Amino acid sequence: MRIETERLVLRPWEERDRAPFAAIVGDPHVMRFYTHPRSREQADAWFDRMVEGFVRGTSRFLAAERKSDGALLGLVGTADIDFEIPTNPKTEVGWVLGQAYWGKGYAPEAAGASLAYAFETVGLQEVVAFTAHQNLPSQRVMEKIGMRRDASADFDHPRIPEGHPLRPHVLYRISNPRSA
Ligand SMILES: CC(C)(COP(=O)(O)OP(=O)(O)OC[C@H]1O[C@@H](n2cnc3c(N)ncnc32)[C@H](O)[C@@H]1OP(=O)(O)O)[C@@H](O)C(=O)NCCC(=O)NCCS
Repeated sequence: MRIETERLVLRPWEERDRAPFAAIVGDPHVMRFYTHPRSREQADAWFDRMVEGFVRGTSRFLAAERKSDGALLGLVGTADIDFEIPTNPKTEVGWVLGQAYWGKGYAPEAAGASLAYAFETVGLQEVVAFTAHQNLPSQRVMEKIGMRRDASADFDHPRIPEGHPLRPHVLYRISNPRSA
């Protein structure tokens, strides 16, 4: 599969993406809302899970590549949520971009195209997004792609220890416009 936007291509991961992906998720500033930056080993395991998930059909977290120079900007896409979440649906849209690529509207451009694919091609009825309360840039991206906060569905992330300041998460939703 391949999703094209004006400035970007979203495509399956290739081996050449492994090192730039590890650099992105190894950056403490990029990962400040994810409790810790990932070591090379952790980044490789994350990369492998995305590749396996794509093969199984449970993940469309894709490589976001810039058309003008082929740079790997990061990961963007939709995927089945792989932990217990106290709400439906169980599909999320998400993104992690390298710091050098922030502030140019790439995340909304890529995530908006991922949602369009999820609704028009996959036929999903609804998609959620979630992040730590403190992650305002990502909440802004959620709003820019038409998602709306559902405060009644906020939850504590089960993989973040109790008492950790990043445990409380906000949840945003968007429905397939065709099913409205
Ligand atoms: C979230 C992220 C992808 C932003 O992507 P981006 O391509 O830079 O998005 P944009 O260019 O649209 O800019 C982000 C928006 O957030 C806003 N923003 C930035 N910092 C902000 C802050 N501290 N408070 C509120 N809004 C903020 C920007 O002003 C911009 O909105 P605007 O265009 O209305 O001015 C990037 O910050 C990232 O990868 N973060 C790390 C990983 C992460 O947290 N992922 C999300 C998990 S759900």
